[in-house]
Amino acid sequence: MKLNELTKTHKNKPFRVLFVCLGNICRSPTAEGVTRRLLAREAPHLGVELDSAGTGDYHVGEPPDPRSQRAALARGIDLGELRARQIRADDFERFDLIIAMDHANLRELVAQRPPRATARLALFMDYAPELGVAEVPDPYQGKAADFERVLDLTEAAARGLITHLERAGADSAAP
Ligand code: 4NP
Repeated sequence: MKLNELTKTHKNKPFRVLFVCLGNICRSPTAEGVTRRLLAREAPHLGVELDSAGTGDYHVGEPPDPRSQRAALARGIDLGELRARQIRADDFERFDLIIAMDHANLRELVAQRPPRATARLALFMDYAPELGVAEVPDPYQGKAADFERVLDLTEAAARGLITHLERAGADSAAP
């Protein structure tokens, strides 16, 4: 699927994006925080709403991993208020776009997608094709540098996502 087929905006209804990884304590909360800040700075007029979730239930109710929080805070992004939750069936209707951090989580989303689902599914790094990186790698067993890498990749993909949302918004405004 081409990126420009991924989103549709609707008048009077905010466009809603859900980021998904495995645990919802490292990559997807980072993606949520990074994208939220970029949107606030560069495209507040879009009115996009964000959330994140995990395909697994291992860390439900927990704040983001301290290593993710540190890496994000070093770039001025506070993830401290976020709490992990697991993806639910109604997410596939409540969100317009659900973005997986890697292929395994995208496969899981495809497997869980209910017949009535309206959300489109995407891979986050497809929004930064210039990097030639397919996935945001799971940093959980890794080192500080792996968490830095998550920040670098999510910043690039968030920029691409916002560019795309701007374009989709402009298209939808056409008569
Ligand atoms: P995340 O990282 O999917 O980016 O939140 C992980 C966090 C926890 C686990 C795996 C990945 N875990 O197995 O507990």
